[in-house]
Amino acid sequence: MRAHPVAPLLIASLLGLALIGCGNAEAAGPDNFNGDSRRGADLVKNYHCGGCHDIPGIAGADGNVGPPLHRVGTRTYIAGYIQNSPDNMTAWIEDPQKALPGNAMPTIGIPQKDARDIAAFLYTLK
Ligand code: HEC
Repeated sequence: MRAHPVAPLLIASLLGLALIGCGNAEAAGPDNFNGDSRRGADLVKNYHCGGCHDIPGIAGADGNVGPPLHRVGTRTYIAGYIQNSPDNMTAWIEDPQKALPGNAMPTIGIPQKDARDIAAFLYTLK
């Protein structure tokens, strides 16, 4: 049986499209994102995110109120609704109740600079 001559091309282009679609998750953690991930890791400790989240690389962060943050840097959506991008992640950390009113993560009152650094840390989790 001979495969249809167009089939490989079609499959290749569909794969290409699929990669572009998923590429958003990759683009979620661009290297030029100007947050300080090391400072972010310290802030994650200080703000006790680990009381509610299981977070790789943060000692004692084994909370189970919210979802584990394993590989959150490559997740497609934040909280299942918001496209995962550096700006959206920063906004989420700054004020999750504004980002998605009524969700179960409380607004802690984190300044934007801290939120950016925390986002930079989260994007190291791949
Ligand atoms: C009081 C508990 C609590 C604290 C403290 C908390 N979170 Fe959350 N967080 C949640 C809950 C609950 C959700 C799930 C929200 C949803 O999906 O509707 C969540 C969701 C998230 C998400 C989205 C995860 C996903 O899979 O979409 C991120 C990222 C996140 N939190 C980061 C943080 C960071 C960073 C801190 C510390 C600055 C923090 N959280 C502190 C409860 C908490």
